[in-house]
Amino acid sequence: MSHVETRMTLNGKEVTGHAPADTTLVRWLREQAHAYEVKEGCNEGTCGTCTVLVDGRSATGCTTLAVQVDGARVETSASLAEGEELSPLQAKFWETGASQCGFCTQGMLMSAVELLRSGDEVTPAKVREHLHGNLCRCTGYQAIVDAVVKAAEEGATR
Ligand code: FES
Ligand code: FES
Repeated sequence: MSHVETRMTLNGKEVTGHAPADTTLVRWLREQAHAYEVKEGCNEGTCGTCTVLVDGRSATGCTTLAVQVDGARVETSASLAEGEELSPLQAKFWETGASQCGFCTQGMLMSAVELLRSGDEVTPAKVREHLHGNLCRCTGYQAIVDAVVKAAEEGATR
């Protein structure tokens, strides 16, 4: 398949790649932009670990083609920390033990960021509903729910 040029703003920086037209966004981010924080798990839209924000809305990178987001603004979890300092949401994940092996964490964080920025009231039930597409094999979810609720209580948006 012929290669196509795709450009996007990734975490505030312009990036350009050349890849086959059927390259998924998660594969493009990892192979063209070296955004290795974005994980590839089930590759069929089920686990949520590849979740990123595209123009502010969550999308699974394995069910989105890179060419579909040409010209878009893409955010990954690498945008959250400032230097060595964790973002408020990441700090809550740390404090509550919401990340164990960490494989799901990038997607959890980005889905949670979408909720925190939505303006909706962030209750435990709302967190569970919003993160229903993000699977975790390690934590049992309660620590993740606690982390997002605590972050919301402090007005965090990242
Ligand atoms: S790798 Fe994309 S949803 Fe699982
Ligand atoms: S922390 Fe291991 S899958 Fe969630």
